[in-house]
Amino acid sequence: MKDLTPAKESLDPIETASRDEISALQLERMQWSLAHAYNNVPYYKNAFDSAGVAPGDLKSLEDISKFPFTVKSDLRDNYPFDMFAVAREQVARIHASSGTTGKPTVVGYTSTDIDNWATLVARSMRAAGTKPGDLVHVAYGYGLFTGGLGAHYGAEKLGCTVVPVSGGMTERQVTLINDFKPSTIMVTPSYALSIVDAFNAQNLDPRDCSLDVGIFGAEPWTNAMRCEIEDAFDMHAVDIYGLSEVMGPGVASECVETKDGPTIWEDHFYPEVINPETGEPVADGEQGELVFTSLTKEAFPIIRYRTRDLTRLLPGTARSMRRMEKITGRSDDMIILRGVNVFPTQIEEQLMRVKALSPHFQLELTRDQRMDALTVHTEVADSSTGNEVKDTCARELVAMIKDVVGISVVVRVGDTGAVPRSQGKAVRLIDNRPNDA
Ligand code: DLL
Repeated sequence: MKDLTPAKESLDPIETASRDEISALQLERMQWSLAHAYNNVPYYKNAFDSAGVAPGDLKSLEDISKFPFTVKSDLRDNYPFDMFAVAREQVARIHASSGTTGKPTVVGYTSTDIDNWATLVARSMRAAGTKPGDLVHVAYGYGLFTGGLGAHYGAEKLGCTVVPVSGGMTERQVTLINDFKPSTIMVTPSYALSIVDAFNAQNLDPRDCSLDVGIFGAEPWTNAMRCEIEDAFDMHAVDIYGLSEVMGPGVASECVETKDGPTIWEDHFYPEVINPETGEPVADGEQGELVFTSLTKEAFPIIRYRTRDLTRLLPGTARSMRRMEKITGRSDDMIILRGVNVFPTQIEEQLMRVKALSPHFQLELTRDQRMDALTVHTEVADSSTGNEVKDTCARELVAMIKDVVGISVVVRVGDTGAVPRSQGKAVRLIDNRPNDA
């Protein structure tokens, strides 16, 4: 793999600024952001008034803990536009994230917000090793989802040639990669695996393609999956994180020279990690729920938004800004199986260790009598594999999951192609328990 470390001179000055400089900028911006939200969004005025705090009470960054949290239902209650802090006419673009139930969460951007977002995605791409002039294949979905357009504007901002492929039509993805020869691909990790399959189906080796780096996000993925993808394509795989409520992709992103968890672009977002039960902030380095306050957003300021993503804050390495540990899961994805908390990523980690199995998997929860049962549906990597090997793989995986994760599961190993393929965010869990569960 090529050394893609960006030249220090190409970085934004704030990426290498001192912690003191970063904190001073954050405080000034946080004071602005709180006042902007309070003065322009009735929801925030009511929430702050009820909590007995005013924007002027923020004298230090730590004072943010006096302010109330914002949660997804607050955004739903203000559907569609009541969380906007500017007149609708000032909103240049709208995105939305489709919840599994009810109305989507709507977010808006002024043209300045879009420009800041593009700058941060460009910064993320530069951290990944992409350079101006590179050809970038964007296979995140375009539309209300922030992935496609977010990546697109960032790639343009960096000065790249963008190929806006979007998700789907997987065979054509292979053709376009082979013909256009991109150096960067931006796609969900699970869809990257579907693209690997499509290469193989055409008797092509993805290692021979032009890609030097993939920028993967929008869903949890493990370091074991990183190795699988890097090996399949002979390229770097880095992690990009974001969520529409806070902006979209590019809230945090990994540096190719360290690959040690996404650096949070702290000049635009203030992170906290809290104990999800008590809501109290925890010290850096401790696990908890990630919370963000936007520092510069005009159309949709967001104060102490509870992401439900579980991680910890870590000191900066390749940059002075803090990092977050690669996300293990969302509190919503946590399965409680007979008292043990399990995330799909823990199953993924074990699955990747069984070499005869493909990296595709889906989990199914069922209820037998009054006991919940978890079945791991996966498949063999090589279609000529016989039943005996399938059985051995299943037994091996059952034992490893029991050993490392501490739960008993059923493993079903199907033929190659048995697990439904992802075209964007993978659906990892199917809950087939009766509704009264
Ligand atoms: O998924 C934005 C995005 C697009 C990020 C493309 C990266 C690349 P939403 O649809 O609002 O936005 O979903 C946000 O996805 O709260 C996490 O649970 C999850 N997520 C996003 N990036 C990562 C990541 C986009 N790198 C939700 N690792 C977030 C783990 C991620 N989970």
